[in-house]
Amino acid sequence: MVNTPIGDRYNQLITGNDFCRILFPQPQTNPHKIDFLMNLNEATKLIEFRRTVKPIDMDGQPNYSDQLVSQATIEQLLSNANWAPTHGLTEPWRFTVYQGESLTELAQFLRQTYTEHTPEELFKEAKRDKMASYAENTQVAIVLGMERHPGKIPAEEEVIAVACAVQNLHLSAAAAGLGGFWSTAPIYDLPTTRVHFGFAGEDDRCLGIFYIGYPKNDWPERKRGAPKPVQDKITWR
Ligand SMILES: Cc1cc2nc3c(=O)[nH]c(=O)nc-3n(C[C@H](O)[C@H](O)[C@H](O)COP(=O)(O)O)c2cc1C
Repeated sequence: MVNTPIGDRYNQLITGNDFCRILFPQPQTNPHKIDFLMNLNEATKLIEFRRTVKPIDMDGQPNYSDQLVSQATIEQLLSNANWAPTHGLTEPWRFTVYQGESLTELAQFLRQTYTEHTPEELFKEAKRDKMASYAENTQVAIVLGMERHPGKIPAEEEVIAVACAVQNLHLSAAAAGLGGFWSTAPIYDLPTTRVHFGFAGEDDRCLGIFYIGYPKNDWPERKRGAPKPVQDKITWR
């Protein structure tokens, strides 16, 4: 297979959002911040470029290369996540990061928790193995927590704020040439799981695990192509 350099794929992305460029020509200087680095076209490209890349493919083969994700990169991604919007400035996102040898512990924990807590009629060996395999084939796993601030902001809004932080994280990962995968499953949000990951408050939540790694193969296209037209999702009043 011939690898398409990620930069080429990024540069090819001048897609359905051409209307942005026509409607909003870029000013030479930004009146609000003179040294603004990314204009709307660049932001659009990054948003379209971001992709879900799982640690393993459908056949269980690794999707991530052996290239390590540096500590500095991980810290920058998390710092970018930390700038997400947050109602009441509660900043509810919490991250528990696994890398290197600790990933083996994570894989064992997921395997055991799935086995112990999945009702017999729902239990699937293949599902258990796949869940553990994500942890075994990733460079980094970031467990996503929501720390609840009772009485201040509705719980739903704190969950939404964490999702905003995850989008910051995923976009930043893409900008660094990293694929990312937000994995969700019922066992992640069990009380025992939450406590294990360090989200111990009574109403804290565990909202999934975010895996990152440099893709081994071509930067993927979006599954089933571009999203359905935004025009069908807008009501103009
Ligand atoms: C909250 C959330 C949870 C997700 N959980 C899963 C998951 O458990 N398994 C999965 O295969 N994909 C999961 N995804 C990723 C979607 O499959 C993916 O975003 C979708 O296929 C579009 O691909 P893209 O991210 O490359 O645009 C999740 C995405 C979000 C936003």
